[in-house]
Amino acid sequence: MTAPTLPDLFTWLEQSRRDGEVHYDERQRCWTVLGHPEVSAVLGDPHTFSSDLGDLQPRQEDLDLFQRGNFVQMDPPRHDSLRRLVSRAFTPRVVAGLAPRITTVTSELLDELAGAERFDLVDDLAYPLPVIVIAELLGIPAADRPVFRRWADALFERPEAGPDQPLTRMLDDRSVQAVAAVMREMNEYLLEHVRAHRATPGDDLTGNLVQAKADGERLSDEEIIGFVGLLLLAGHITTTATLGNTVASLDEHPDAAAEVRADPALLPDAIEEVLRLRTPFPRLARRSTTDAVIGGLPVPAGDVVVAWLAAANRDGRVFADPLRFDIRRNPNPHLTFGHGIHFCIGAPLARLEARIAMEVLLRRYREIAVDTAASVYRNPWVMLTPTKLPVSVVPA
Ligand code: HEM
Repeated sequence: MTAPTLPDLFTWLEQSRRDGEVHYDERQRCWTVLGHPEVSAVLGDPHTFSSDLGDLQPRQEDLDLFQRGNFVQMDPPRHDSLRRLVSRAFTPRVVAGLAPRITTVTSELLDELAGAERFDLVDDLAYPLPVIVIAELLGIPAADRPVFRRWADALFERPEAGPDQPLTRMLDDRSVQAVAAVMREMNEYLLEHVRAHRATPGDDLTGNLVQAKADGERLSDEEIIGFVGLLLLAGHITTTATLGNTVASLDEHPDAAAEVRADPALLPDAIEEVLRLRTPFPRLARRSTTDAVIGGLPVPAGDVVVAWLAAANRDGRVFADPLRFDIRRNPNPHLTFGHGIHFCIGAPLARLEARIAMEVLLRRYREIAVDTAASVYRNPWVMLTPTKLPVSVVPA
């Protein structure tokens, strides 16, 4: 099966918009929400639009176990108690303290290339950098990252996802078994680490979690597994995407690249523009808990509602000339990190990693040219990210 490409996704979203910013999609058996105000309204009302879509997933013990601490798929009040436990570790001030370590890791990874003039930006930098940073925060061996990558690949490689695939049939029986096998391996691996941290709690996030209480009770091993697994996966795949997408976007827009080189202070806004146009998670799913109204249309209780961040980010009512890559766009109220109570906890960290990595890259190399023909992307219905991004570089 040939997976859809990036242009396929954006063409589909544009065509879909002709049916209205909100409409029911018979083929996918869900509500498609495309407009910026409408997506914000859905994400901003967690009581009407629940994140608990457990019943969309096939029942399987390894998948169920992971869900127990996976607070991104929980509703209040449990969501809020669990989120509070880790939010302190990711405030902008705490995250700013990680800058020296992020700079060192970036420099070491590029030093390892020993002056190579061609390398793979994903394999050699965009993947290892965020995974090392989040593994160190969690107190998990960063050296095990080939295993984490295998898990992420197994979970996010879904060539079948696309406009004809009902969300309720995201996984066929064979895929469920394959995903469950990976989840089992991941659960066992994380359980071992949770137990080690219970024996000797270190001064890291997992150490804090084994001692923390939510609603007056300590977390179970199973809850911590879901918690740590969520942070481990969410903490790197999307940042890998952002770094790869930034290098690819600047390669496509040489004028913007020249401006950023001349004035690196433009980098943060340029990265925001990459985040807007190449939204790593293109869509978020919710379920209506009661009869509701979105964009003036009645949505019955129990329906699946898909909020398309990638479409909201291109809404001409909010973004002037929405398809233009404008590194000076300000304000840039993109919804790439979500909205409301589930707003991404790792946004400050992701932004910092992307900025530092880009600064180091631009300082080291006078030229960075992407081999577009040899680049490989994931199915964008699942994630907008390169998985291979070969580059040729000229040292500064
Ligand atoms: C939540 C995107 C980086 C941890 C989210 C959500 C989005 C998102 C869209 C909301 C999900 C929903 O409402 O259902 C991104 C993007 C990133 C990124 C685009 C990078 C560019 C990170 C990093 C971490 C992280 C580095 C870890 C440190 C989380 C967690 C949640 C979350 C724990 C759940 C928050 C909650 O449910 O309250 N992220 N993320 N993310 N993200 Fe990120």
